Amino acid sequence: MLGRNVRGGDVDDAEISDSTPLAVAMDGPSGTGKSSVSRRLATRLAARYLDTGAMYRVATLRVLRGGVDLTDPAAIAVAVKDLPLTIGTDPSRELIELDGEDVSAEIRGNVVTKAVSAVSAVPEVREQLVALQREIAASSGRIVVEGRDIGTVVLPDADAKIYLTASAQARADRRNQQNIAEGRGDDYEAVLADVQRRDTLDSTRAVSPLRPAEDAVLVDTSDLSMDEVIDELYRVVAQQISMGGGR
Ligand code: DC
Repeated sequence: MLGRNVRGGDVDDAEISDSTPLAVAMDGPSGTGKSSVSRRLATRLAARYLDTGAMYRVATLRVLRGGVDLTDPAAIAVAVKDLPLTIGTDPSRELIELDGEDVSAEIRGNVVTKAVSAVSAVPEVREQLVALQREIAASSGRIVVEGRDIGTVVLPDADAKIYLTASAQARADRRNQQNIAEGRGDDYEAVLADVQRRDTLDSTRAVSPLRPAEDAVLVDTSDLSMDEVIDELYRVVAQQISMGGGR
């Protein structure tokens, strides 16, 4: 069985002590609201927060700035070697630098978004960034780490593992609403096609394909508000800790 579905129950049942070290792995495809809920969950847990997708985006920016051919994995590996990356872990303040330059806005642009699958599929890139992710997690007493392979590869011994899902339609609808709000036009069908294309690329790549860890709890966000998702996640984390997952 892939993952476990846990629903219902009372959040107030579950209390998580403030003092214990805690690593929470948050995985799932894009468009599930994963980044926003991971940040909010980290704040609620008084934990640090690590956005591993941002790290792959910084690596991609480095590759693009170097004019490297995206179809040449060896050249990508060379361009990303010893990446001068700084990433903060404060859930209320984004800090992402490439060689001391704030690149937090640029890494979210279309150019990087289109190229990131090619760069994140290169094994040397993943090895370097996974090592850094493990270091950051190990030196943060409590942390929520968000990505695609956290529960399966980066932190297989995490105290709690969550896999956020939502239907492709719900994810496309969210992204399309975001595009409309930010003046990038209204094209639901194109957005849906892009969501499905990225799902296929991310789940079929040879290295660290996107899939739930066997011991992850699946949470479907399609029909839940942000507050409902956070309550559900807090309850799931408390339950996983009480069942003795972890480090
Ligand atoms: O979460 P995001 O959209 O910022 O992620 C950017 C890309 O990086 C996405 O195509 C998947 C990839 N990624 C990955 O391969 N492994 C991770 N742990 C996080 C992101």
